[in-house]
Amino acid sequence: MSEQRRLIIRGGRRIEGEIAVQGAKNSALPLLAAAVLCRGETELYNCPKLSDCDAACRILSALGCSCKREGSVVCIDASALRTSEISEKLMREMRSSIIFMGALLGRAGQCRLSFPGGCEIGSRPIDFHLDAFRKMGAKIREEHGYIVCTAQKLKGAKISFPVPSVGATENVMLAAVLAEGTTEIHNAAREPEICDLAEYLTRCGAKIKGAGTGTIHIEGVKRLSGCRYTVMPDRIAAATYLCCGAITRGEILLTQADLPSLGLVVPVLEQIGCSIYGFGNGSVYLNARKTLKAPSQIRTAPYPGFPTDAQPPMMALCATLPGTTMFAETVFENRYRHVSELTRLGAKIKVEGRVAVVEGVNRLSGAELEAGDLRGGAAMVTAALFAEGTTGIGHICYINRGYENIEGCLRSVGADIRTV
Ligand code: EPZ
Repeated sequence: MSEQRRLIIRGGRRIEGEIAVQGAKNSALPLLAAAVLCRGETELYNCPKLSDCDAACRILSALGCSCKREGSVVCIDASALRTSEISEKLMREMRSSIIFMGALLGRAGQCRLSFPGGCEIGSRPIDFHLDAFRKMGAKIREEHGYIVCTAQKLKGAKISFPVPSVGATENVMLAAVLAEGTTEIHNAAREPEICDLAEYLTRCGAKIKGAGTGTIHIEGVKRLSGCRYTVMPDRIAAATYLCCGAITRGEILLTQADLPSLGLVVPVLEQIGCSIYGFGNGSVYLNARKTLKAPSQIRTAPYPGFPTDAQPPMMALCATLPGTTMFAETVFENRYRHVSELTRLGAKIKVEGRVAVVEGVNRLSGAELEAGDLRGGAAMVTAALFAEGTTGIGHICYINRGYENIEGCLRSVGADIRTV
């Protein structure tokens, strides 16, 4: 049903008001997987209502955990597991289900799941994950599109990644917390979601040091109990809404937000000419009523660099600013799919490999667009708020994977947006 539904946006209205930011998708997913390690109940607060989280809950239930949602709280009891296998159907619903591999190896000493495969923004290899598990003593077979892992007892090891990988860092953390001995992760990802996962695991009884830095030390323990935990705010949803406020030259207050986790997004918005303030109560205010100008260049990089997930909505904003912005997408090889759709609105963007040159224009006009991936879809929504006339966006299932009620949030701050 959601395949045929489209977002219809009439642009040209200033965004003014307040949005409560959802819990972080990219923290909730590894936290839901981590609950598998605990012989007890986990209560996950501020868990966003997203199709990706629903998929993770279906996997937990299929593994034999009890998993139920009450509003924004998800309760998981993983005391008894029925299986350590995840069906191809469930794996295909969400490629980041690979995060269950570390949890199942850590808890059950084995797992069988299908290759997650690539996705819309790149091939998404998992070699770092598999190499690390082998170093920890797992035997890994790949057969008929399935990965079969067995490990009598995982052993701590020294793991180094060629480039920081969020998923591989998280997967090794999940495999290491119940392993025998100590695991060191070098060139670890430093994203705030890594700290969220480490904090949850520590509350469950794990021994982890260095999360948020490039080197993480984990000392294996015998067992983990569940705990009550609140998912951190979604820094990419927050960045997206700030871009929506800026592109309409409006002002927006984000509550339940976290300024430090926004990283380089803040100085870039300030370079553009926005005023941004963070308040101690976890809110972030942006005012874009002044004259704005294009930033000269934006280069994505692992945290604390400019987040690749914020590149598409930020590009939509830059497409409407006087001047030229050069983007360099260093993390994924195919993350400019939104460019052709933004061009249909009148944006002037040239792509050469991993570089995109955006020449700002002072008007965009509405058109019919099709989302091709999650953050590319968010870029189309951002640009449509500025475009004159009506823009239709299809395949909104991509957008609903990562944004909880984007239509309601934007409508609450003045956007003319509806789903048909
Ligand atoms: C996580 O993906 C996020 N997803 C992505 O968000 C995010 O874009 C990405 O981190 C980077 O921040 C979740 O957290 C669920 P990586 P992940 O491993 O873990 C290469 C969104 O829109 N690599 O940090 O898959 C890889 O090809 C999504 O919310 C290997 O070569 O990303 C990439 O070039 C999109 N081998 C680089 O590392 C491996 O085994 C970073 O990828 C693993 C990764």
